[in-house]
Amino acid sequence: MTSRNNLKKLILAALLVAIIIVLGLLPGIPLGIIPVPIIFQNMGIMLAGLLLGPRYGSLATVTFVLLVALGFPFLSGGNGGMATLLGPTGGYILSWLLVPIFIGWFTRQKTSFWLTFIGTWLWGVLFADICGSLWLAYQSHLNLGVALASNLIFIPGDTIKALLASLLAHKLKPVIWR
Ligand code: BTN
Repeated sequence: MTSRNNLKKLILAALLVAIIIVLGLLPGIPLGIIPVPIIFQNMGIMLAGLLLGPRYGSLATVTFVLLVALGFPFLSGGNGGMATLLGPTGGYILSWLLVPIFIGWFTRQKTSFWLTFIGTWLWGVLFADICGSLWLAYQSHLNLGVALASNLIFIPGDTIKALLASLLAHKLKPVIWR
């Protein structure tokens, strides 16, 4: 029974990797003011933590980031490789290794939709955007305040993604784990 459950989690982790890759087919929307586009893949990262929990959720994102590091063009716009990981958006991508751990841990026992949403927002939006800003400031020689302030532009869209991911997980989790 347990090994069957683990196999199910492994298959779902592979499915989440595929979903994150497919979300990358949607082109990023460049902003002009900073070298960071609006993307949709971070919703897949949030979903990984919500649906799979800390261990298997991070297995999915670690696998995804590893494939990107190896050069697979799985990021929005067909980007990939170490140069991208060390580029202006590297901080967001590296935060994706931790985001499912924190979301999964925070939302594990939560049955309330709003508590799930708050956890998803705190870690999937606030934490990821702060990590992204810190690296962006360092890598692009930007003032930290400017980097943080410019990331405010992502908050409305990322909040909608967190809401959608929480809604999806709220509906899907009872079906998947019944
Ligand atoms: C990449 O493809 O190089 C990663 C792009 C990271 C974009 C970040 S994720 C958080 C924030 N919300 C967005 O829509 N874009 C930024």
